[in-house]
Amino acid sequence: MTEKTQSDDKRLVVVSNRLPIAVGEEAGQWRIKPGSGGLVTALAPVIKARQGLWIGWPGCGEGPPLDELFDNFGREQGYRLAAVPLSEEEEERYYRGFSNSALWPLFHDLLGNCRFRGDDWQTYLEVNRRFADVVASRTGEDDLVWVQDYQLIMVGAQLRELGLRQKLAFFLHIPFPTHDLFRRLPWNREILTALLAYDLVGFQTLRDRRNFVNSAIALIPELQVERRQRAQTLIRYQGRIVRVGHFPISIDFAEFNDAARSQEVADAAWYLHENLEGRQVMLGVDRLDYTKGIPERFRAFERALEKYPDLHRNISLLQVVVPSRTQVPDYQDLKQTLDRLSGRINSRFGEPGWIPIHYVFRSLERTQLLAHYRTSEIALVTPLRDGMNLVAKEYCAASVENNGVLILSEFAGAADQLGKHALLVNPYDVEGTADAMHRAFTMPGEERRRRMGMLRTQVRRYDVHHWVRSFLGALSTGTQLP
Ligand code: ADP
Ligand code: G6P
Repeated sequence: MTEKTQSDDKRLVVVSNRLPIAVGEEAGQWRIKPGSGGLVTALAPVIKARQGLWIGWPGCGEGPPLDELFDNFGREQGYRLAAVPLSEEEEERYYRGFSNSALWPLFHDLLGNCRFRGDDWQTYLEVNRRFADVVASRTGEDDLVWVQDYQLIMVGAQLRELGLRQKLAFFLHIPFPTHDLFRRLPWNREILTALLAYDLVGFQTLRDRRNFVNSAIALIPELQVERRQRAQTLIRYQGRIVRVGHFPISIDFAEFNDAARSQEVADAAWYLHENLEGRQVMLGVDRLDYTKGIPERFRAFERALEKYPDLHRNISLLQVVVPSRTQVPDYQDLKQTLDRLSGRINSRFGEPGWIPIHYVFRSLERTQLLAHYRTSEIALVTPLRDGMNLVAKEYCAASVENNGVLILSEFAGAADQLGKHALLVNPYDVEGTADAMHRAFTMPGEERRRRMGMLRTQVRRYDVHHWVRSFLGALSTGTQLP
């Protein structure tokens, strides 16, 4: 970080549902394993650099010797952890229920996947209150408390009820829906007024920020929009000013770029391609999630194989899916759909010596992940809706040969920054996505290098450190009102 902001002097306290680790038992011993998902990927380097405190759910209930495990972690990583354990019932109603069966699908425009239940909402309030209690007991006036994501929206308002007067910030990692969709939520006003308890509310894109402001104006007549600026909208509510901005999240470009150039990754990348016998590799890397558009992607690939015989034997789709939220019914259904679709396409088009879709259901460790990115000629990032999508940025940072083609959904937040140089697709448009696959496959080397060069410049310039700097800068040095 080059610029200094007032917030640089304070200890950073990140509060998120999930800690950057999960505690689990292996061969009778409690162990710490790394967590997954975009939030953890983005924030881990930030909190490490600032030696802060991270408060969250360790992925387990009461029981494991957390103090001992966390002390060891703190010594190794240089920042501290504090746990908010959840009971089985809380996990069901707060995490799988309200967070992931109401807010998650609604905010991703998938009303049909929503389940709105009063019991889930009550537990959401209770668990948010537990988080607020832990924050209040572990922080002081000199700390900068930064709450993350849809699982913990109420924490700021609850901290105010507990008497905290210091600045509080919130960032939403997922999209914010249009007013027309948002108002279907039975607790829409409660969610909006809770967001207005923070001093700064950050969204991924200008569209998300506008959607929030429009909903707030429509549903909370008492508020006033004081000023609309390019970077921020200032809202006056109950005698306070709330700043609302958009800050596209990113990755640690230098770290990905350097690691992708290592000999270890180069060897793993070479080995991977050798196994695919010199074909072009089209890569998908996603959490198992119905927002990621994986079945639609498989269908588009099937259509491309029907339409373009030159793809046969010359390309393979390598889809790596990391298990996620496996106890939520919609996620179990998705796993079955993917098994069925990949089986059907492979038996329809496969030939001795060529499997069209290699579908792997597991998490990749870092060297393997980077090798997959580095070696793949094409990346398919085609969510139906996504707050940002860090896989798109990771692919660019790790494409050190500078010749990968990014096929990107216009409904990913990342499209605002990368859309000009990626091949943009509408993932619901099977025909158009199939055509983009063929276009990427046949794209001349010079055009590939030009596009990837521009993408890499963009990701390098607006990296995760830029994100933190602009967010914390807006919190401490924003425009003053009379
Ligand atoms: P989301 O936050 O919805 O999971 P993002 O694309 O923003 O989506 O972030 C996903 C993160 O999870 C990335 O950092 C990516 O590297 C990681 N990830 C996704 N799938 C895998 C996988 N199969 N193996 C390892 N890491 C994965
Ligand atoms: C997305 C969400 C995060 C979440 C992650 C993984 O990135 O924005 O808040 O942590 O997915 O999902 P999980 O349910 O496993 O925490």
